[in-house]
Amino acid sequence: MKDKTRRTFIKSTGMAAFGGAMAINMGFPRTTFAANSDTLKVGLIGCGGRGTGAASQALNADPNVVLTHMADIFEDRMQLSYDSLKKLHGERVKADKSSKYVGFDGSRKIMESDVDVVILATPPCYRPQQLEMAVAAGKHVFCEKPTAIDAPGIRRVLDAAQAAKEKNLSLVSGFCWRYHEPKRATFGRIHDGAIGEVLSVYNTYNTGGLWLRDVEPDWSPMKKKMRNWLYYNYISGDHIVEQAIHSIDMMSWALGDIKPVSATGTGGRQSRTGEEYGNIYDHFAIVYEYENGVKGYHFSRQQKECSNSYAVEVMGNKGNAVVDCIRSKHAISGAENWRYKGEDNDMYQQEHNELFASIRNGKPVNDGEKMAQSTMLGIMGRMVAYTGQTITYDQAINSTEKLGPDNIDEHTIYPDPPVAQSGITKFY
Ligand SMILES: NC(=O)c1ccc[n+]([C@@H]2O[C@H](COP(=O)([O-])OP(=O)(O)OC[C@H]3O[C@@H](n4cnc5c(N)ncnc54)[C@H](O)[C@@H]3O)[C@@H](O)[C@H]2O)c1
Repeated sequence: MKDKTRRTFIKSTGMAAFGGAMAINMGFPRTTFAANSDTLKVGLIGCGGRGTGAASQALNADPNVVLTHMADIFEDRMQLSYDSLKKLHGERVKADKSSKYVGFDGSRKIMESDVDVVILATPPCYRPQQLEMAVAAGKHVFCEKPTAIDAPGIRRVLDAAQAAKEKNLSLVSGFCWRYHEPKRATFGRIHDGAIGEVLSVYNTYNTGGLWLRDVEPDWSPMKKKMRNWLYYNYISGDHIVEQAIHSIDMMSWALGDIKPVSATGTGGRQSRTGEEYGNIYDHFAIVYEYENGVKGYHFSRQQKECSNSYAVEVMGNKGNAVVDCIRSKHAISGAENWRYKGEDNDMYQQEHNELFASIRNGKPVNDGEKMAQSTMLGIMGRMVAYTGQTITYDQAINSTEKLGPDNIDEHTIYPDPPVAQSGITKFY
């Protein structure tokens, strides 16, 4: 098939004609895709821990996928990622000197290439821009969470997700628990009324500290920050947006992804106060208020030597449900007593199985709205903690606050904003 025709073929829903002959079940092993022999080319943007894992899962998802392009700003990260993928997948890793981009503009080059699918796994500040570029270029997308770091970014993501829908492109998000069968079963039962009306959801993301990576003295100031991007809120969004967002996403899932009316909260930094920790907080406590008095309570911290918890407890008028990510517990008690006893699948693999199956069968998945909504709840939590104000959802989503510059490259000079102080930091 001539290349242009081949590409139109992959991107069109005409694929359904072929897919119709296949038993399309997202969880089926890779052999179910055999009816379509087109090779799908993948470009990886952000060759860190998650990006490397996602690229490997993409290659596992379908026998006719190859990794042709890679981009990172650091040579060593790129090399490590390339070596481990090459070891695992051999010839299917086809990225070479001409398609391995080291530098800040590698994502643009990948968007201009002939890849069919892009994996967006850089720090989150780039996500809205990269998603826009990917959709404009007609790429299917695996988009890691969080999807943005501020409300203007969320609005761009929502527009890009809508454009992806109109172009029949698949957009799968890295809110991985949504692809975990035990959680699908548990939240499915909650939605079916197993605990009656949901009255409140308590969720935690209490962990220890995270890494600090070495920097070279001759790097530009921004390159040094990018090495330890977690600690700068204009790169990561702060840890409530970057990490704890998984628990907030499950809270939203339990509540049927409805929007809260308002939120109030607090936070700060107590144990992670050194300059090397940039300007983010190390703990947050937020209350989300929904219509009819329903409440969502979120508690997160990244502090060493403290107790850990990563769980969601859903209280209903006929029972309770518990999802505990550390103990792998999925249980319901009350009018009905139930415990998940089925398959404990690899959710990261499932994301890619469903992404590639959707491309093959011409039935695009679009996680855009949900991934933007969950990320927005994290941003809203950060807003209320930073400012000390009660903020409505409408105010939050319409906020004009941009946490960082429009684009960050090696030579961007952006002094760290001071650590936020409730009652002093303004909402806008
Ligand atoms: N869904 C999950 O369970 C999960 C788990 C881990 C990380 N994540 C998310 O994945 C993303 C990456 O996290 P990670 O743990 O892999 O971090 P990481 O630091 O290991 O990897 C990020 C990589 O992106 C590179 N990078 C930075 N700017 C870039 C640019 N402009 N162009 C290309 N590459 C660039 C960095 O050099 C780094 O190698 C984050 O958004 C994080 O929240 C999700």
